[in-house]
Amino acid sequence: MTDWPNLHVSQHPAVRHKLGILRDEKTEPKKFREVVRELSWLMGYEALADARTRPIDVPTPIETMQGEELADRIGFIPILRAGLGMVDAFLELMPTAQVWHLGLFRDERTLRPVEYYNKLPNSATVDLCLILDPMLATGGSATAAIEVLKRWGAVRIKLVNLIAAPEGVEAVLTAHPDVEIYAAALDRQLNNKGYIMPGLGDAGDRQFGTGNSG
Ligand code: PRP
Ligand code: URA
Repeated sequence: MTDWPNLHVSQHPAVRHKLGILRDEKTEPKKFREVVRELSWLMGYEALADARTRPIDVPTPIETMQGEELADRIGFIPILRAGLGMVDAFLELMPTAQVWHLGLFRDERTLRPVEYYNKLPNSATVDLCLILDPMLATGGSATAAIEVLKRWGAVRIKLVNLIAAPEGVEAVLTAHPDVEIYAAALDRQLNNKGYIMPGLGDAGDRQFGTGNSG
């Protein structure tokens, strides 16, 4: 397997534990949404670890000290639908972040992404963009989202996934070597329908109770 310096796969035991629950086919949508949220919190903590701060004076009851405040303007870009389940946790971590929704679905016949919603303003309003999507399969949707953000003027882009396939990592980092990927797990490979193995099935359907997956 190629070595990808820009791929960060979480090693945290809490992440590994929760992933087992998420993948289990017996996990119902309510629990599934809960675990997506918990994993998003942990992944957000890792993905935002190098956000920039600037010094500020903070008057404690004892004395004034030099504290820090966030300097980066941060934008979260959830990919509809499945990325929606990650937003609340990220906003809890960074309440001042902007949220820009992008609607992309994967045509299940061609496996190519189709854009159906985009209300980004004309030019970038953030310094650091985090694309939120639980699944990175062929990489088509993520690559399309990155291209939209680069046309918008985004410079620092991170992609946050719960499960990534090697095929998707390769596709994204070949097209966009400047992007950093944060994944809770790197799985084995795609099946002939473009689903991640072992994966968890269809992340959108499992969150929203809309179908059978695999
Ligand atoms: C899923 C997933 C990603 C995409 C990944 O969305 O949430 O956006 O597939 O596949 P790719 O890497 O091959 O592009 P889907 O198209 O199923 O839409 P949904 O979120 O509305 O269910
Ligand atoms: N989208 C999903 O939701 N799951 C996969 O395994 C691949 C794409």
